[in-house]
Amino acid sequence: PVVKEIFGLANLEETIREAYGLRKVVVVAGDSEASPLTKRELGRAGAKALLQAMRGDDVVAVTGGTTLAEVAEQLTPPSNTSLKQSWFVPARGGLGESLEIQANTIASGMAKRVGAGYRLLHVPDLLGRDAYDSLVHDPNIHDIVDMIRQARIIVHGIGDAMEMARRRKLEQPVIDELQRDGALAESFGYYFNKDGVVVHRMLTLGLRLEDIMKAETVVGIAGGKAKARAIHAVLKFGQEDILVVDEAAAVEIVKEI
Ligand code: F6P
Repeated sequence: PVVKEIFGLANLEETIREAYGLRKVVVVAGDSEASPLTKRELGRAGAKALLQAMRGDDVVAVTGGTTLAEVAEQLTPPSNTSLKQSWFVPARGGLGESLEIQANTIASGMAKRVGAGYRLLHVPDLLGRDAYDSLVHDPNIHDIVDMIRQARIIVHGIGDAMEMARRRKLEQPVIDELQRDGALAESFGYYFNKDGVVVHRMLTLGLRLEDIMKAETVVGIAGGKAKARAIHAVLKFGQEDILVVDEAAAVEIVKEI
């Protein structure tokens, strides 16, 4: 805490917490976009916030991305509680990104690290209508999707809308549409504008908006100056409970308030 005061991090945490009505904000020193060490710290702080939110019999839904991969990497089993009765699941069908940063990989990695169970969802991230309609009726898929939708805790990354559109290789007409609608942020497969309004969603199996709204604890983890506007947009959506960011993002977020 003393060190945090020196850097004014505690101040940033409290300013952001109050402005968006959050339960808790953690700001780690530095810029994770520029420094892999800071990204590791961000992951470590995210892992700690997640463990603190867990009760021991949770269903935790996690998204993909490099930040969440770092959270998984930094997770260590808690000394005081057993997580044997907990489950980690991917928030959505994750096939589409490279294997290391897919939600399935992250969910299983986290579960193994803390001795919890996991279930996977082996469907593409982006589905066509026909594929969606047939998969949604498959009994095995139905089972796991049901579990995902009951997650008590959701841990997710936040991305810049245009960058995520590129990473997902969306088609140009969709990118044009996103731009026209003012999409700034992407999270959980949804695209948000500056006011936190959902302007676009991907047809994907897994968490729906209503599931995010009823989850007890939603933890967002993201860093880097370039993501500040995206983080602000997701915070405006209003479902976040815990936010873990780096200093570079926090300084910019405060300017958006
Ligand atoms: O694709 C999964 C996802 O969590 C997105 O929802 C989010 O926008 C992105 O990854 C964040 O990725 P990164 O942590 O690599 O910036």
